[in-house]
Formats: sequence, C-alpha cells, structure tokens
Amino acid sequence: DSGDAPTVLSELREKAGTRLDPVHRDFFEGGADAEIALAENERAFRRLALLPRILRGSGPADTAVTLLGDRAALPVFVSPTAFQRLAHPDGELATARATAAAGTVLITSMASTTAVAEVTAAARAVRADAAVWFQLYLQPSPEVTDALVRRAERAGCGALVVTADSPVFGHRARDDRNGFHDLPAGFAAENMRDLPGAPQGGTLDIAMSPGLSWDDLRRLRAATRLPIVLKGVLHPDDARRAADEGVAALLVSNHGGRQLDAAPATVEALPAVVAAVGDRLPVLLDGGVRSGSDVVIALALGATAVGVGRPVLWGLAAEGEAGVARVLEQLRAEVAHVLTLCGARDSGDLTRDQVVVRGLGVA
Ligand code: FNR
Repeated sequence: DSGDAPTVLSELREKAGTRLDPVHRDFFEGGADAEIALAENERAFRRLALLPRILRGSGPADTAVTLLGDRAALPVFVSPTAFQRLAHPDGELATARATAAAGTVLITSMASTTAVAEVTAAARAVRADAAVWFQLYLQPSPEVTDALVRRAERAGCGALVVTADSPVFGHRARDDRNGFHDLPAGFAAENMRDLPGAPQGGTLDIAMSPGLSWDDLRRLRAATRLPIVLKGVLHPDDARRAADEGVAALLVSNHGGRQLDAAPATVEALPAVVAAVGDRLPVLLDGGVRSGSDVVIALALGATAVGVGRPVLWGLAAEGEAGVARVLEQLRAEVAHVLTLCGARDSGDLTRDQVVVRGLGVA
C-alpha cells in the first residue's frame, strides 16, 4: 500500500517486536478492549493534511520550545511508560540518558522499574540541567501520595504530571489472554518501596481510585511547590476547571488508548481544549504521534509540544539507549524539515488554518 513506506520508527517497531517476549510486546503495544482508541490515535493524524505556506523567507527551522521554564531542543517530550526494564535491561536509565542527550523533557513513570532518584541521576550525569518530571497517580491514602511527592522533589524533578484518566485500570484484553498482571520475579515498581503501609523492604501496589476529585488535586497543590501538569484531559470544561485550579499545563491524552476505549483520538480532542484554555496555559498532547508531520499538525492546532510513549519503547527494546536516541533525533530532524516545507521558522509561525481534513477539499 502506498502511504505505508517503512520509516526509521516503523523499522524500530518491527525490530522491537522480534526482540521482545511476546507477552511483554503485547503489554507495550496493546490498548483497552477492542483497541479502537489505540488505532484511532494514529489514524486521525493520517486523516489530516498540512497546507504549506510559500515564499515566506523563513530561513532555517528552529525546533526549540520552552516547557514550564525548561528549554527543550525539540517540541517532543517522552511520555511516561511503565516497566521499561521489561523492554531492555538498561530500562529507564537508558531512556533517561538518551532523552537528556537529546535535550528534551523526560516524564518518568511512577510505575517505573528504576527508582526516580536513579533516573534523575542518570539524566543529570549526561546533562547537568536535564529536565525530568515525575508522573503521579494520586493514591487513595494521602500519606502515600505525600511520600511519593517528597521522593520526586528530593530526586530533583521539575514538575508533577498527575494522570487523571485512570479512576480504574483499563481492561487490557491482550494482558488478560496472556495472564500478564504482575511484574516477573526480579523486577519491582521501585518508587513504591518503603512507603507508609508497604511490607518491610517490599513494595506497595499502585492503587487506582474512582473516589478522587478536584479536592485531591487541590490538596496536592497545597502540599508542593512543584508545578502540576494534568494528564488525561479531553473535555474542554475540565480544561477550564484545571486552569481555574492553578494547574501549570494540560496534557491532552487518552493514555495511548489504554483506558476508555470510546475516547476520541487525541488530535481530534485538541482543538476544543486549545479554544477553551490555550491563551491561559500550555496545552500538550500525546497519543499516536509517529512522525514530524504529526508533531507539526499538533503544533499548528495549538499544542506547545507533544509526547511519545510507544516509539520510545520501540527504540529502547530494539537498540537500548542508542535506539531511544535515534527515535528522538529522527523526530527532531523531521520536525525541522516539515516546518521548513510549511514556510515556518518555528511553531509560532504555524496557524490553525494550515490543518485541513483530507477528503473534504471539494465542498
Ligand atoms: C503508558 N502510559 C502511561 N501513562 C501514565 O500516566 N503512567 C504510566 O505508567 C503509563 N504507562 C504506560 C505503559 C505503556 C506500555 C504505554 C504504551 C503507555 C500512557 C503514556 O504516558 C502515553 O499517554 C501514551 O503512551 C501516548 O501514546 P503513544 O505515544 O504510545 O501512542
């Protein structure tokens, strides 16, 4: 089929598939239920086209952006993904080093198989001012949440990314079929060690709670000076509420299609969120970003930057640290190229009207 020529990312995806234990590959690749949201995230980008502007004398592209005061060399950050040591023995440390070397923001998962202090240390060994943000699931016990926040603060994380799209665990059909529900022996969710209520030397299970509300978010805000990024925003009214609550940035996300399977593709939810709060705080997006064109489409629709989850896991599983570096460098180069082809020097030159829906050109 035309439109499916291999790319650096698709080749890394394939290589990762041959290297991974099939059960772990299913864990990384899978989505919720019938995997509609998972498929739509990628498909929705392909339903969109970019209208280039010409003869604007834009000069060489500048891909750098500022994210909550942290400079990122490209408008792409690493979204949090769990259990990276199942992808490669170097796991989160490899991701941290490659992301720091690429000069962008790493959001490290609360469900990582490496402790957050080791992740930040690995990033800082590569680049003293490397930005690492901590992804947090608010826990039903405020003492446990507090202990996790202190851990992230002590490790030098620059922001807390609160994932709010998971009042319960999504149903993962592939994991159910494979009987994959726990980390294999020898691996643990290291951030969950030695928390209030944890068994001596052991880890506490990560809890999802449908009882969480804006009150819990307010409590968290009062308990830390770190800026808070709210992850999993899809409804514009929630975006407004988050802005009113003093959240520093929003991340439009459907958890890579792993939670609500009826959720829309994130790029389709983005415009309404930007219209609601885009003038008040940065709006980020993740889900289905696989190329520089996808990145530029999201930027033109008003995102400040976008995250990649699975592409980083493909690079990691295929080639370790070097593979993650290749994914980020490929995306950086593609973004620069597409910006230039669109007549833009940087994302500030892009406008909403440059994104059009394919197939509707003849009204
Ligand atoms: C995730 N995601 C995720 N999100 C989060 O807030 N905490 C987490 O621990 C995880 N873990 C996780 C594991 C795996 C294997 C995947 C694929 C995803 C969701 C992630 O942050 C992000 O929203 C999506 O991965 C973005 O979609 P793409 O780039 O994978 O299409």
